[in-house]
Amino acid sequence: MISEKTKKLKIGIAGCGAIGSSLAKAVLSDFSDKAELASLYDSEIEKAYSLSSNLGRKAAALNLEELINRSDLVIEAAKADAAFDIAKKTLSFSRDIMVMSVGGIMEHYHELEVLAQENGARIFIPSGAICGIDGLKALSLGKIKSVILTTKKPPKGFLGAPYLLKKKIRLENIDRDTVIFEGNALQAVKAFPQNINVAAILSIAGIGAQDTIVRIVASPGLSRNTHEVEIESEAGKITARTENLIHPDNPKTSYLAVLSAIAVLKQILGPVRIGT
Ligand SMILES: NC(=O)c1ccc[n+]([C@@H]2O[C@H](COP(=O)([O-])OP(=O)(O)OC[C@H]3O[C@@H](n4cnc5c(N)ncnc54)[C@H](O)[C@@H]3O)[C@@H](O)[C@H]2O)c1
Repeated sequence: MISEKTKKLKIGIAGCGAIGSSLAKAVLSDFSDKAELASLYDSEIEKAYSLSSNLGRKAAALNLEELINRSDLVIEAAKADAAFDIAKKTLSFSRDIMVMSVGGIMEHYHELEVLAQENGARIFIPSGAICGIDGLKALSLGKIKSVILTTKKPPKGFLGAPYLLKKKIRLENIDRDTVIFEGNALQAVKAFPQNINVAAILSIAGIGAQDTIVRIVASPGLSRNTHEVEIESEAGKITARTENLIHPDNPKTSYLAVLSAIAVLKQILGPVRIGT
């Protein structure tokens, strides 16, 4: 955490791909009065050097420890199977962490929560590529009957998912809307590790991965990745539908996911918090 109010928040980014690069640029362009880009790290070290030099900074770190040492807040924008280790190490060093690869921490979230508490650090999980988290957070204080996520993407959006290989589902044969997966969020995150961070975010904010239902639909002709969330609770019903466009600079990621992380940074650095 930042030690004195007058100091700038030192931000380190782990993972210099589509999201990490956009966030690094945003730190420099939108928050230069309150934050500094202290460090960049990538397991492919040349990516950290290249981003660092593109931004005119000497920020590349040789390893994760160096990144953490130089930062007050580490933003994880790497990979599902690296997210837990990055978060655990960051919190153990009493630094705050923002996690983008939420699917990678979902099962061990409570372990991280305890670690954060013990070390006086914080965990930030942006809403990412989905809307409705504000309502879900509030409803989870009462009784929630069900949370159902329906994610629709064009078939090519699921290329390489382990579940498709296991079930021998051939994407090129899909010519109409087809439910390719139905199960709970725990199963969904394992079956589609690079696709389903939104299910993980919903699970952590709501009733847990075991009880959060996920439907995945391959939809030929669809131009926007679409997430529909239905929440039934004792306080009412919420239906939230998000149609995502790709980021203008980074065709690999949803524009909203990047904006959502920047909005969390704005909350961390600013005096006002809007929304639950
Ligand atoms: N929360 C959300 O809504 C949301 C939305 C989109 C993507 N994501 C997730 O965010 C993460 C980043 O997405 P992206 O589009 O920028 O991916 P990307 O593939 O463009 O970039 C990932 C970068 O991380 C690096 N990397 C891989 N393993 C690493 C490790 N162990 N330590 C450090 N760096 C490592 C890679 O070399 C690469 O440069 C992914 O896990 C993705 O699933 C989350």
